[in-house]
Amino acid sequence: MDFKVVVVSQEEYDQWIEGMKNTSPEYTAESTSAQEGQELFQNSCINCHAIDASANNPIVGPNLADFGDRTKVAAIKNYSKEAIVDWIMDPASIKPGNGMLGAPYLQDNSIQEEDAEKIADFLMELKATDEPVESVKKFRENEAENN
Ligand code: HEC
Repeated sequence: MDFKVVVVSQEEYDQWIEGMKNTSPEYTAESTSAQEGQELFQNSCINCHAIDASANNPIVGPNLADFGDRTKVAAIKNYSKEAIVDWIMDPASIKPGNGMLGAPYLQDNSIQEEDAEKIADFLMELKATDEPVESVKKFRENEAENN
């Protein structure tokens, strides 16, 4: 596992905190693809993943409220649409034995790659702030160059 810490300024942090307060379970996806992805997410993923920071119901998987601001997928892969699709299609190959392997969609193969791409478009829209804060952007650029 490869946890990274991104140091952000106080101002960026405050921005993020404010943004997190605005995340909502009723978020409406913007692009058509993301809207279809959101529907798929509601069917196959919402039981284990919340998409709002205020969710306090007991959930199994990580809260994805600001997933669009992340630098890593499952703390292993560099953040990209491709990495998200790979994770959705075959999480076992990325992290054997992880807690998502019991997901029903993996048992009945109800999610195809084109669905996973739509879900990825949706997840990438989930952000605390419209743009990732500057430090996160720089971090992603450096990671992309070094890998
Ligand atoms: C049975 C519960 C369950 C279901 C259903 C489920 N997940 Fe997960 N998911 C998990 C768990 C647990 C993890 C944490 C795995 C780990 O990193 O060890 C996870 C991790 C993730 C991550 C990585 C999160 C991060 O912090 O980087 C993403 C993205 C994700 N899931 C997306 C989805 C999508 C999309 C679906 C539906 C197609 C889905 N999950 C369905 C339990 C679930």
